[in-house]
Amino acid sequence: MSNELIKPIIAGNWKMNGLESSIDELVKLIDLSSEIIECDVIIIPPYTLLDRFNSLLRKDKSILKLGAQDCHYMRSGSYTGSISAEMVKDLGVQYVVLGHSERRIQYHETSELVAKKATIAHCSNLKTIICVGESLADRNSGRHEEAIQHQLTDSLPKGFTNLNTIIAYEPIWAIGANNSASVVEISQMHRFISSLLLKYSKENHTLPIIYGGSVTQYNAKDIINIEFVNGLLVGGASLKADSFFGIINSI
Ligand code: 13P
Repeated sequence: MSNELIKPIIAGNWKMNGLESSIDELVKLIDLSSEIIECDVIIIPPYTLLDRFNSLLRKDKSILKLGAQDCHYMRSGSYTGSISAEMVKDLGVQYVVLGHSERRIQYHETSELVAKKATIAHCSNLKTIICVGESLADRNSGRHEEAIQHQLTDSLPKGFTNLNTIIAYEPIWAIGANNSASVVEISQMHRFISSLLLKYSKENHTLPIIYGGSVTQYNAKDIINIEFVNGLLVGGASLKADSFFGIINSI
């Protein structure tokens, strides 16, 4: 890791998975080990489990932090089926993931929309995890840096700082695949993103940059040791308490 002051961040994005029965084991396992865990662990379940997680975490004084998978770009209003930043904040949530490639692709979300959502999330005192990632076509045609630069420039809200924003680099071709991106690919892209952030930041410092895409308990340690990697955004392997804990433990 490049910035020794930043605690590694391990975030588990459950996507559209998980029922009440999935929760207890994970919270117990992490809390039992809280004294040896030296990273920030964020669990990002579906909206339906946020309240249940929140009451468990409060009761057990857990070290786990809670994130939501998205929020609306408006504060409130006639948006049937949508959830606002203020609503998730009200459920004890501290983080919100924005601009995940699944939302960009499946719901046609643009970077400009991501920036709007981030602005409203910051107004509600949520920290944002803004995702960027190139497609396989971008990578194969050598346009991966250009793609990331566009996404980053347009997705970052005006008031971003290293206290309210985390960047997640998730190459689309590595999500839910058998293999993560290679150490060389991750290293090159994190260095590139870090240099862009340094340019864009008013305070002249970079933001935490975490990697996502087929992270498992077997490759987590190699990835977290890469320069400019400040944490991991885990999908599939965060769904089972033992594999998610395996990742935390390997670090
Ligand atoms: P996987 O870890 O399942 O590849 O998912 C990564 C991801 O999309 C996390 O947001």
